[in-house]
Amino acid sequence: MIRRWRTLPLLLVGALAPTFSLASLPFENTAIVRSIELGGSLVHVSTTYAVKALQPGQTTYQIMLSKAERAKTSWFDVKVKGQTVPLEVAELGEDESSIGHLLSVSLPKELAVNGTLNLVLETVQTHATHPYPERATQKEPQLLKYEADLFITSPYATLVQRTKVRSSSPNVVSYTTPHDVDSFVKDGSVTKSGATITYGPYYNIQMDAVFIAKYQQPISVHYNFDHAVLEVKTLRRTAEISHWGSNLNIEDDIYLRNAGPTLKGHFSRLEHQSQSYFRKFSSHILSDLTLHLPPGVTNAYYYDQNGNVSTSHLRKTPSVAKGSKASQYSVLELKPRYPVLGGWNYSYTIGFDTPLEDSVSYDANNGIYNIGIPVMTLIPGAVVDDAEVKIILPEGATNVEFISPFPELSSTMSTHITYLDTTGRPAVILAYKDLTDKHTGMIYVSYQVPFSAHLKKPLSVSAAFFSVFAFAFMARRVDLRLHKK
Ligand SMILES: *[C@@H]1O[C@H](CO)[C@@H](O)[C@H](O)[C@H]1NC(C)=O
Ligand SMILES: *[C@@H]1O[C@H](CO)[C@@H](O)[C@H](O)[C@H]1NC(C)=O
Ligand SMILES: *[C@@H]1O[C@H](CO)[C@@H](O)[C@H](O)[C@H]1NC(C)=O
Repeated sequence: MIRRWRTLPLLLVGALAPTFSLASLPFENTAIVRSIELGGSLVHVSTTYAVKALQPGQTTYQIMLSKAERAKTSWFDVKVKGQTVPLEVAELGEDESSIGHLLSVSLPKELAVNGTLNLVLETVQTHATHPYPERATQKEPQLLKYEADLFITSPYATLVQRTKVRSSSPNVVSYTTPHDVDSFVKDGSVTKSGATITYGPYYNIQMDAVFIAKYQQPISVHYNFDHAVLEVKTLRRTAEISHWGSNLNIEDDIYLRNAGPTLKGHFSRLEHQSQSYFRKFSSHILSDLTLHLPPGVTNAYYYDQNGNVSTSHLRKTPSVAKGSKASQYSVLELKPRYPVLGGWNYSYTIGFDTPLEDSVSYDANNGIYNIGIPVMTLIPGAVVDDAEVKIILPEGATNVEFISPFPELSSTMSTHITYLDTTGRPAVILAYKDLTDKHTGMIYVSYQVPFSAHLKKPLSVSAAFFSVFAFAFMARRVDLRLHKK
């Protein structure tokens, strides 16, 4: 029943890709600059490759990530510098000599000898930092550690490369000074200026297994981070489409964790309040969240295990016509029932309704409905470890097709049966892992609803109505008989 609209954008072509022998390298990197923006759960990395073709007719360029880097990379794209459309990228897997993981980028135009191009690889890394120390008292700052490889890997020779690591605060506790790099540097091997630590420039780097074994080394940066390190352990989103009520209901069950250092000793609310007052060390305690919901939201609700949480606030914006470029959204401010400290968890449910016509379109020529459902509502700075999105279609919907904005982990089709349904409603369930602030697209689902299915609901409602009526009638008769006695 499920048919995919397109193949995955990333094709796993093969586990082993050829490494080039030195003599025949098709490219060289005139320069590589990598910028790492340190965060909590998310670390954004942007790497610019200034490439030059050494052989004629080049149509693909290979980017190499170290294996550790690939493992923590949850999102990436490659663009020509200054352009907005991402290039097609195929994952080739590990290279022959097992140095790293290769991505093959299709170039927008063929490069002749000496032809140059600037490519930008953007990635988001998740679970790439950890609290250090792992436990801290309420009065101590939140310190995190981030690790990376010193040299940027590439299958081609690199004339010069440097890595900039930026912290949001200049308060950096420590950073690694590389060793054995004298043959690659002209000045220092590392410098710090404000909140930025620069490794390099390093000159004339040619990666191979010998180089890796001899010179590649881990670097780590130990820094202050003044925001909560948020991990959504699980997100269960249910989107229920009701033609009958002309409504789209979206409900999220969220299991949130503050992955900062675990609290050492007891939590003092008084201390927390005075810290908040002086804006000291309290920003890594989660005490409120601001979410952007679609315009036209009604009936927003928020509850946890203990019932409704009244300390939330919704600023609505009116709904907008589908397809119009609305930058408007409703703002939902949530306050958890208690401040969520490092190592603490908080489970809650939020839900809201929007008018169905804001997200569905209907093509009268073929009778196909097309609906867009956002994969998630972004929680700023948070990684979503496991997400499941269930889209419940109207009863009797057929010819269901869907397209995910990025590859899903799995997809299934099930039937969801609720009160007053006769045959149950088809549901599409998609699972995802390690979602970041870049995973913001829509899942598009198309379906048809046969005319007979449109009639089923009224019929089952009237059947239910009739049975209540019949029961009341019977009851009255019984009642009458009793009175007669
Ligand atoms: C490429 O550049 C080099 C150095 O500038 C030059 O010697 C060579 O002739 C150029 N090759 C082509 C095909 O233009
Ligand atoms: C929670 O709030 C909703 C709407 O605001 C209300 O309908 C519901 O009865 C409340 N539930 C409890 C347990 O207070
Ligand atoms: C929070 O959840 C994690 C598992 O996700 C668990 O290991 C930890 O003990 C929980 N913390 C508390 C304070 O309950």
